Amino acid sequence: MPHLKVRPFETGKFDELIERGELCTFRGIPVEEAPVELLGIEDGEGAPFLLEIKKREEAYLIRCDKITRPLDVGRIKRALTKLAKRAGLEVLHSNLQHSEGKPPLANEFEKGIRDFENPEFPREKVALEVGFGSGRHLLWQAKEHPDTLFIGVEIHTPSAQQVLRQIHLQGLENVWVLNYDARLLMEMLPSNRLEAIYVHFPVPWDKKPHRRVISDAFVAEAERVLRPGGVLELRTDSENYYRYALEVFSHPVKAEFLVEKNRELPVVSKYEARWRRMEKNIYTLTFRVLEESPTRENPGDFHFEGTLEESRLAALPSRAVVEDGYFVHFGHRYRFADGSGGIVECSFGGFDRPEHKYLLYKEGRMDYFPDRPVATVTNARAHRRIQEMTHGR
Ligand SMILES: C[S@@+](CC[C@H](N)C(=O)[O-])C[C@H]1O[C@@H](n2cnc3c(N)ncnc32)[C@H](O)[C@@H]1O
Repeated sequence: MPHLKVRPFETGKFDELIERGELCTFRGIPVEEAPVELLGIEDGEGAPFLLEIKKREEAYLIRCDKITRPLDVGRIKRALTKLAKRAGLEVLHSNLQHSEGKPPLANEFEKGIRDFENPEFPREKVALEVGFGSGRHLLWQAKEHPDTLFIGVEIHTPSAQQVLRQIHLQGLENVWVLNYDARLLMEMLPSNRLEAIYVHFPVPWDKKPHRRVISDAFVAEAERVLRPGGVLELRTDSENYYRYALEVFSHPVKAEFLVEKNRELPVVSKYEARWRRMEKNIYTLTFRVLEESPTRENPGDFHFEGTLEESRLAALPSRAVVEDGYFVHFGHRYRFADGSGGIVECSFGGFDRPEHKYLLYKEGRMDYFPDRPVATVTNARAHRRIQEMTHGR
């Protein structure tokens, strides 16, 4: 990850940039003893993000914070370069030039989870691939079917970046890439809209089944978002996962499914190639939706109501609050150097698909940073609890 190591300096230097509205928007000073400060960055290239300044005696380390990190590392590099120049930092070491020469990311096809709130798809036909990995199958499908929009969702950031480079190199125009948890995306998609969902070689997670992509909840969402006749295609080499999926696929009543052993596809993914070399059986389970589903209801708007009294924040529990089906956990708190507000780390939502955000408050108003949570029923319940704990109602 791009970073700068600089000679220790007075971080108050950034306040001038903040006042002039140049690149930085606020400086967060930890409320509890912690050697990290946060710097709000607005570069005009996308959603705002945070840089963290880790103070060590010999050098300060400046890098992007994990919760708000943009996919395009070029943005982080440009911000760090500008920051060092404008604040006159003495750079001891940096890794800002190392990846030069790599093809650029096709940024226009990189989507954020919020783009799926009321999505306008540029094609009538839409398909989804979950966990595309190296992207062989996704890119092949997109090339074969230019009339279909292929949405690829992948939780592993370097894989998403690699596929965005390939989209640029291959000049494709019908792929959207989302670097997020597929299980949350499923809850966002409109009903009766997708032609197909591909889940090829998901991680079996035999020891942590709650991390599996396929579950009763996932299949129920698939049933809702697929149009009648649309299919969910699962391929796996794991006997265990196959048996598990067989049971999950048999629960919905408004769908039928088919099992095939060692069906070949015209494109062989990286994982499939490995299993074939090992002569493993490959199972394909195809789940076909038979009926229309009701339209998706928006579970809430995620605004905070009322004025925030900052004194309430000091009383927030440091341990996770666990309720039936969701949790809320408050992390580090930072106050803005100019006294106008602050920012609090907060994780919440479902146990198997938590959201990680900041709560930013300024002049009595609170909002999520860098953007609002995904509008799911579970997140809406967690949000109401956060509202209660921070605003007392
Ligand atoms: C075993 S790899 C298979 C990759 C690819 N489908 C193939 O056949 O080569 C599983 C992929 O799923 C991704 N993944 C796991 N859980 C996910 C989730 N909840 N949402 C999105 N992607 C996920 C992993 O990062 C990984 O790239």
